[in-house]
Amino acid sequence: MTPKSETNASLREAAMRALDNAYAPYSNFRVGAALRTKSGRLITGCNMENAAYGLAICAETLAVAYAVSQGLTEFDEIAIATDDSEPTPPCGACRQVLNEFAPSIRISSYTRGGKEASWTLEELLPHAFVLNQSRGRT
Ligand code: THU
Repeated sequence: MTPKSETNASLREAAMRALDNAYAPYSNFRVGAALRTKSGRLITGCNMENAAYGLAICAETLAVAYAVSQGLTEFDEIAIATDDSEPTPPCGACRQVLNEFAPSIRISSYTRGGKEASWTLEELLPHAFVLNQSRGRT
């Protein structure tokens, strides 16, 4: 089996490569993300902005959507990469998106300058919203 430190390095590197593709001409805040599926696949995403600002898609959400579009819905870890001075945690909306598929996912965040931080989703999104499926049914 591949040692954990090696798989983490490849996840970080995948997030860094996705960061190179970030499309953020409006905010100039560039973000890359890489998800590791339980089966060991790496799926990446980057933020993608639009002239209509509200249409911006975050890197983490885009990575999840790309994975789901390939039938991959079970995730172990997500790495986030930015050029910022401090590791960035995922925004609130992305936390909710991650919670849909991986409520216990580990989130690691890296800066190009070499800083890192790590959290579980439970730490960042306690008391997450889940839809009570019986609501509204008669
Ligand atoms: N952004 C992400 O890609 N992920 C986050 O978790 C926080 C924010 C993007 C959205 C937008 O393109 C830019 O960063 C500034 O908010």
